[in-house]
Amino acid sequence: MAVRILVGTQWGDEGKGKVIDALAGRASVMARYGGGPNAGHTVVIGGKKTILHHVPSGVLHERCLCLLGNGVVVDPVLFMEEIRALEADGIDCRDRILVSPRAHVILPTHRLLDRLAEDRRGAEAIGTTGKGIGPAYGDKVLREGLRAGELALPERVEAKVRADMRRIHAMQEEAGEELADTDALVEEALESARAMAGMVEDTGVLLRERIEAGEEVLLEGAQGTLLDLDHGTYPFVTSSSSVSGGACTGCGVPPTSVDAVWGVTKAYVTRVGNGPFPTELMEDPTGDLLRSAGAEFGSTTGRPRRCGWFDGVAARYSTRLNGLTAQVVTKLDVLTGIDPLRICVAYRIDGRETTEFPDTAVALGGVTPVYEEHPGWTESLRGARSPEELPDAARSYLRRLEELSGCAVVAVSVGPDREETVECPEGVPEVAVGRSLSR
Ligand code: IMP
Repeated sequence: MAVRILVGTQWGDEGKGKVIDALAGRASVMARYGGGPNAGHTVVIGGKKTILHHVPSGVLHERCLCLLGNGVVVDPVLFMEEIRALEADGIDCRDRILVSPRAHVILPTHRLLDRLAEDRRGAEAIGTTGKGIGPAYGDKVLREGLRAGELALPERVEAKVRADMRRIHAMQEEAGEELADTDALVEEALESARAMAGMVEDTGVLLRERIEAGEEVLLEGAQGTLLDLDHGTYPFVTSSSSVSGGACTGCGVPPTSVDAVWGVTKAYVTRVGNGPFPTELMEDPTGDLLRSAGAEFGSTTGRPRRCGWFDGVAARYSTRLNGLTAQVVTKLDVLTGIDPLRICVAYRIDGRETTEFPDTAVALGGVTPVYEEHPGWTESLRGARSPEELPDAARSYLRRLEELSGCAVVAVSVGPDREETVECPEGVPEVAVGRSLSR
């Protein structure tokens, strides 16, 4: 396998960090293709937890070169903080992390603009992470952004911050807020720009060289398919292309070089932020149980995640949209003790059933899920390392996930640690356990 894309199949937080970390052991280079510090990839090694926001999860492997592709938005202030924190943890990484000169920069002004735009939306707020993602990508599309390649030009950085501040002050005046201090923000931007400027290099060329040499390359997606700007639940989405197709534009890698697309799928579904979520268990004890057992709190914002049953309609949409060649199921252990389990197999819209994912957030908000009931299990899964060591009901649940999503499961995560993984490269073996439809 030479070039592989890894993508989240739901609304983000599928547990990509752990999967990427496992694959990174074999990769010589790993590149992020979209998003920015809104991402929070958690990796646990030997009980020690590391949360990465900008930096690809491959950083924990000494030989892995880590790239931030042109499709990423990078906040130099937070990026440099993250690097210093990794160094303080004994991870020597400064020479192995490079940022594309084409990647757009998140300035302190973008963070302010993100917050002001959310305040303006009021009840219609998206529930963004507040990291300035939308305003930075907005500037990119308007062709008014600052790219990482310009960080070495202090006059460009300063001019951009001052131009943004005029807009911000007008918004703050309208909102009756105290005006932010322009000089302080200029200074913050200049200082971090100086620190990061030396880490900029043409990542497209580096990737091309590695691909031509036949080395193992991993293109790492952030967020998830249903948060994609085009294909997600717009406007309750992020501002980048998080689907597999985004890896090519976001890294400058041609589609013909890609050998495999792996999805990461949580055994149930979570969402953080606003927007429709058909299988949500709202104010429901099972939803609360999933949240506490699965530690479902945002790794970037700490917000509690909304939790719900596995959604087979959304899963199939993701498989097709991303062209998945395999998937990894995460957090299966969290379902231990819940009996029966429910799986959404179709949506009912206006009295008719469909397995197609609706194309608007309004339509998705109006569907009623059609559920199937599945027997649960009570055994702990955390010691399992092969599919045969899983209880029959857990294997049957996985088989159903495979059927509904239309994609083979090649590994299953049964605990947060690197070691707590069941490998099943041939897919999940058949097992007969009953299920019933509840409509
Ligand atoms: P933004 O990306 O900060 O603009 O937020 C837009 C939406 O995407 C909000 O609903 C966020 O909660 C969600 N979001 C952004 N990044 C992530 C992530 O890494 N995991 C899960 N949700 C995310």
